[in-house]
Amino acid sequence: RKPVSLPRIADMHARGEKISMLTAYDATFAAMADAAGVDCLLVGDSLGMVCQGLSSTVGVSLDTMRYHTDSVSRGLRRVQGTAWLIADLPFGSYQQSREQALASATVLMQAGAHMVKLEGGGWTTETVRFLVERGIPVCAHLGLTPQTVHALGGYRVQGKGDAGALLQQQAHALQDAGAAMLVLEMVPAALAAELTTALTRCATIGIGAGRGTAGQVLVLHDMLGIHLGKMPKFVRNFMADAPGVLPALQAYVRAVKDGSFPDDRRHAW
Ligand code: KIV
Ligand code: NA
Repeated sequence: RKPVSLPRIADMHARGEKISMLTAYDATFAAMADAAGVDCLLVGDSLGMVCQGLSSTVGVSLDTMRYHTDSVSRGLRRVQGTAWLIADLPFGSYQQSREQALASATVLMQAGAHMVKLEGGGWTTETVRFLVERGIPVCAHLGLTPQTVHALGGYRVQGKGDAGALLQQQAHALQDAGAAMLVLEMVPAALAAELTTALTRCATIGIGAGRGTAGQVLVLHDMLGIHLGKMPKFVRNFMADAPGVLPALQAYVRAVKDGSFPDDRRHAW
């Protein structure tokens, strides 16, 4: 496989080939996901919960993100991986100023990320522009933005009713600022589908946002059934019907590509 690049992602988006994304936090899983053909890997700050046992992503530090990005990047390099590598800017590492965001993004890019992701609309637009102008590809993230869970009042669907118009406006502004990808988390499927058609220069990646987005992302451990207790409705356990981890990862890629994941029952609401 040729390495996944921004032009490749734009081309997939334009052709309507669904983009597959999973989170990765360590070298071995990164290499396995790459071998399974996953297009994009996200070193998500969900590692706060998955790896560190935190109750939210708020406590994840930039140094921790650097550590995991380093590990994932090395894992990919060791197998001559081709996945596009995105790393989350954690809470507090970009809110202060555009300069702070640039310094934090530099740390993650130097750890091997190809793109950084940051949460929110409005004030983040100028931060996105600042980074993109300086050669750092940016993925935006709207809807349920876990870093602001306390301000949102909990993990619940966003962008319902009147809030949908604001979300749309923010998404367009982020595209105009140069964001090449946009994660839509727990927003109504109709809103996500509409945005996906409207945004021609920014590929939408959905999680609990229905089947109309340009791509899908899940937390790796969730889709492998590595968790205790109840999962959000939009998660599918790909280990349930697979004889091993690699086949489960391959089944995920196939299901995203052929549109069978998510199905209509897998909304967030
Ligand atoms: O941190 C994360 O895992 C994420 C994805 C769920 C989009 O941001
Ligand atoms: Na995240």
